[in-house]
Amino acid sequence: MQRFRPDAFDPALFLRDHWQKKPLLIRNPWADWANPLEPSELAGLACEEGVEARLIEHTPARLTLEQGPLPEERFAALGAHPWTLLVQAVDHQVPDVAALIGPFRFIPDWRIDDVMVSYAVDGGGVGPHFDQYDVFLIQGLGRRRWRVGPVCDDTTPLLPNEELRLLAGFEASDEWVLEPGDILYVPPGFAHDGVAVGDDCMTYSVGFRAPARGELIEGWADHVVDGLTQDDRYADPDLQPQTNPGEITPEALDRLHAMVMQALGDRDAFARWWGKNSSTPKYPDTDWAPETSITPDEVDELLAEGTPLCRNAASRFAFIRQGENAVLLFVDGQSYPCTGPAMALAMEICAQDRLEPAPGQIPPGPARALITALINLGALAFEAGEDWED
Ligand code: SIN
Ligand code: CO
Repeated sequence: MQRFRPDAFDPALFLRDHWQKKPLLIRNPWADWANPLEPSELAGLACEEGVEARLIEHTPARLTLEQGPLPEERFAALGAHPWTLLVQAVDHQVPDVAALIGPFRFIPDWRIDDVMVSYAVDGGGVGPHFDQYDVFLIQGLGRRRWRVGPVCDDTTPLLPNEELRLLAGFEASDEWVLEPGDILYVPPGFAHDGVAVGDDCMTYSVGFRAPARGELIEGWADHVVDGLTQDDRYADPDLQPQTNPGEITPEALDRLHAMVMQALGDRDAFARWWGKNSSTPKYPDTDWAPETSITPDEVDELLAEGTPLCRNAASRFAFIRQGENAVLLFVDGQSYPCTGPAMALAMEICAQDRLEPAPGQIPPGPARALITALINLGALAFEAGEDWED
């Protein structure tokens, strides 16, 4: 796994001074930077069904956007003008790309969106824009000139191209040329524009998500409504004669408001919903479950041999505490109540993406049952087993 040099980056200082506040250029902090993906492999992914890819071409008049999957012969047909290819969620497909998230795991996993990878020829880029995401832009291969700032919002004028959402005017306050291994952190809302300097420019965008209040309310309210029945209604058996029938009285309003707030205000139910919701995979249509389910006996056998376990890079893991002695583990939209050895295991799986349990370390019972369930979900696998195929 690629790591930062121990003295190259201070997470606490970064969070204090830059996270969600202002951009930061981090000159190659890696112990030994190695570009984890070949351009040809990225092009291959862009041709696959179910992989989200975009091709942007700088034709003389304007930028054009084409959505993937792209036919293989498309790359040979590209003209002399600059172009860039962008592939979403490459971390789900390529473990070496998923490993780039490792140094940023001082930020909670539930905030991670995905790793997008771009390839550009000289002059290629997506144009000046802003995102709603925090992003670490890792220069993988070649060089890219980044221009950054100012802060934009919903009122910032855009060019009349709905799909690309390019800024109508862009005057950067900072400018840097990134070399392989360099990282630029850009907080949400900051205008940015990256243009390849020379061919073979690859950039890895480790992106973080932050739910919009509207999305949260909509999702949670939909969930609450699903659990309500038609006979759960307003009732006023204590109604008193009212002098002006036109008034909606404060008492009636209190009662109506309380009906809504009581149902929506259940903090524990909200926590359970959010754990499931935020661990739901980004591409839920992909089924990673093994073709033949693993049996508890097979799990016992592999554990006795000390076989390492690893997480599917496309799976999302999180947990919430339930008092001192229990946690609720969330994996890919499912929840698993855990206590005792299963709780210790759940917390370890959340902290690490690879486990090397010593033979006998995981006792028979709920902890082993959890391993069996997670393997059959497609979220966990013994390293000796087959690789995931979607
Ligand atoms: C790119 O890699 O070209 C674009 C990344 C971004 O601007 O978010
Ligand atoms: Co961007």
